[in-house]
Amino acid sequence: MSKTFYITTPIYYVNARPHIGHAYTTIACDTIARRQRMMGFDTYFLTGTDEHGQKIERAAQAAGKTPQQLTTEVSAEFRALWDRLGLTYDDFIRTTSERHKQGVQALWRKIRDNGHIYKGHYTGQYCVFDELYVDAVGPGAPCPECGRPTETVREENYFFKLSAFQDRLLRLYTEQPDFIRPEARRNEVISFVRSGLRDLSISRSTFSWGIPVPDDPKHVIYVWLDALANYITALGYGSDNTGLFDKFWPANLQMIGKEIVRFHCVYWPAFLMVAGLPLPQRILAHGWLLFEENKMSKSRGNIVRAETIVDVLGADALRYFLLREVVFGQDGSFSFDALVQRYNADLANGLGNLASRTLTMITRYFRGEVPYPSRASSRKASDDAIAQTASKLINEYNSLFEDRQFSRALEAAWGLVANVDKYIVENEPWALGEKQDEDSRARLATVLYTCAEALRIVTALAHPVIPEATARIWGQLGLGEIKKHPLADLRWGQLRLGTKLGKIEPVFPRADKSAIEKMQTAEDQGRSAAAAATQDAPSVAPIAIQAVGPPAASATTPDGRISIDDFAKVELRVGQVKIAEKVKGADKLLRLEVDLGTEMRQVVAGIAEAYTPESLIGRKVVIVANLAPRKLRGLESNGMIVAASPEGGKPVLCSFLEDVPVGTRLK
Ligand code: MSP
Repeated sequence: MSKTFYITTPIYYVNARPHIGHAYTTIACDTIARRQRMMGFDTYFLTGTDEHGQKIERAAQAAGKTPQQLTTEVSAEFRALWDRLGLTYDDFIRTTSERHKQGVQALWRKIRDNGHIYKGHYTGQYCVFDELYVDAVGPGAPCPECGRPTETVREENYFFKLSAFQDRLLRLYTEQPDFIRPEARRNEVISFVRSGLRDLSISRSTFSWGIPVPDDPKHVIYVWLDALANYITALGYGSDNTGLFDKFWPANLQMIGKEIVRFHCVYWPAFLMVAGLPLPQRILAHGWLLFEENKMSKSRGNIVRAETIVDVLGADALRYFLLREVVFGQDGSFSFDALVQRYNADLANGLGNLASRTLTMITRYFRGEVPYPSRASSRKASDDAIAQTASKLINEYNSLFEDRQFSRALEAAWGLVANVDKYIVENEPWALGEKQDEDSRARLATVLYTCAEALRIVTALAHPVIPEATARIWGQLGLGEIKKHPLADLRWGQLRLGTKLGKIEPVFPRADKSAIEKMQTAEDQGRSAAAAATQDAPSVAPIAIQAVGPPAASATTPDGRISIDDFAKVELRVGQVKIAEKVKGADKLLRLEVDLGTEMRQVVAGIAEAYTPESLIGRKVVIVANLAPRKLRGLESNGMIVAASPEGGKPVLCSFLEDVPVGTRLK
């Protein structure tokens, strides 16, 4: 029986369109899954979407859609992107699917029947953005995780007896020291659990977008219990007995971003323990992809879409960049400049060039057949040095990869590419090719065999990372289907003499400066189009005066009045200013980051003469939330702050005497 390997990504929230942050995790898992398959493991790779909860319900409301519509649409976008990127997932789970619902309810019953659920009253703060109960005091108190204002929840809830798990969890972290990777995350979790665990509220009754609690449908199951269960419901737990659960559970590797470590390393093992199920072997947390110094996220509006990169440079370029440039486990920055630089240096000038030089010369000098490395007399120390480096590389690469040090593994592999480049320059095969004497021919054969064999080895090792290009190089080497190549048996000297090469074509054409511009423009257009698609431009004059931007189109009836429908087109919401700063070179403008409850908005407002930035932080304001974005001083303004503008006076911000929750709509 073959060895099995089960790997999972987190399931992605569908309140946001997929971006390269999501792609990062999924690509890393795809790379591991591909490699495991080449290593002979019977591999199962799961991904999917997380579709319940208050955050999704509100996002749907804000988009004027039903939650069903929004979740179906966005989930399909994730799936289409994964397909476009050629990701080899075996299953894509949606938490709104029937099989998942059945599985979650079965898990609930199991936990309940084992005596770990009780009913109680919860009063406290809840962060809708993180879908997390937090230790914060008072209405609107900031969430300790993300800083957004929390909401007060007073409800009758079901509770999970998490407090009973402190010792068992600490024992788990000691007995299975690799359960949480990397070490820094493990230490964080240990100190969190050591500081004491409180019981966890695991149901909500104030909204309905979720899976009903068995036998008490007034409650829906807490979205994190619902979501975490996907890793087993996808294998048929609690629904179909497909055999997958018995075959693949427990997971070998569950990959997550660092912000969801607590859910996966504390709650998840506790739920599994009560249900009497084995625990995953490893939870591996990676860092964040940053764009312009900040975590890439929809709420910051600083996302980059994978499609943009795929259109211009191809999926392999994105995959290679993410795994080579970012030290896995740490945060890493993304920029188009760095992407193109890496692409040209390592892929176009590196592997691509090595493949085309080597294969073209074999075609020219040996009629497209891999030549025999000749007699001992034609051998030089530099040939053996390449062979030794390649053999060493195979072991080094494998162990770095096992350790998920992708960047170092690729660096090592490209070290061989650089060595072979140098070897080619030193041995001048083109000069040897001009000579017809036997010694020169023998020497040329040895040199080109050495190059081709090194190329084959790098290509096989890199296949899980850059599958498309390596499959093409493999074909050009005349070697059939690369993914079927047993990686565990890879050795120097396996390239068969006389192998007939395939058709030689460039795999990584060089990218010039226009590639950066193209991607930049596509991103700018994509953002504007997305904003326009989700926002009905108001057809009426703004209710109050905003210092930025011209008033919108005029009223619709002869006497200047508008209908209620016209008014309803303007989405006014309460927001809270989180960041305020002056805009360089513009006396009147402030750049604000405003929390709208479901997202963070950048707004540029002409109120600098009336308000200092400090006086605005924490202040609640009214925002026209569905205004098409516009650029001011190079900054995108995504909404308008409502203010009264007395004739000749300074603008006065609209505010409330009572406390109003962030995100509330004004009607
Ligand atoms: N739905 C929950 C997870 C439930 S798992 C049972 C969730 N979803 S999420 O869409 O907000 O983010 C999920 C994951 O996407 C992160 O943990 C991370 O793996 C990936 N990323 C999202 N943005 C990212 C970056 N900017 N950088 C790196 N990874 C990012 O949390």
